[in-house]
Amino acid sequence: MKITLVVACALVDADNRVLVAQRPEGKALAGLWEFPGGKMEPGERPEQTLIRELDEELGITVKEECLAPLTFASFGYPEFHLLMPLWVCRRWEGQVIAREHTALKWLRAGKLRDMPMPPADEPLIPPLIDLLGA
Ligand code: C5P
Repeated sequence: MKITLVVACALVDADNRVLVAQRPEGKALAGLWEFPGGKMEPGERPEQTLIRELDEELGITVKEECLAPLTFASFGYPEFHLLMPLWVCRRWEGQVIAREHTALKWLRAGKLRDMPMPPADEPLIPPLIDLLGA
């Protein structure tokens, strides 16, 4: 079984709200709300992947020391097995904009349960509630 490594990030704002981003039409899982991030490229450390992806997807600059690992997801899709560690980031430079997603939402961690998310992302919600409160 092929393993796909995706690194994801919970951006947390000053009101303890978390960013979720809606996957665009034409991609797998279109319309579902995910934690931003993306596939690791060969030779990258996970933090480097996140710094690159957060710039590409959201137009923000993140410093490596602002990234804290929290937990990880492991989910068997029919075509591949996804391993997806989740980092938390509370500080970045620039305004968050949707460069690749259809829409963005800032939500309290407890409200994430109301959003349709990819099945791999859903188990990441309880550790976020533990960290940030509902
Ligand atoms: O974003 P991208 O399409 O490159 O991600 C590859 C695959 O990883 C997706 O097709 C999806 O199955 C999975 N994925 C996920 N949750 C995310 C990001 C990606 O389940 N937050």
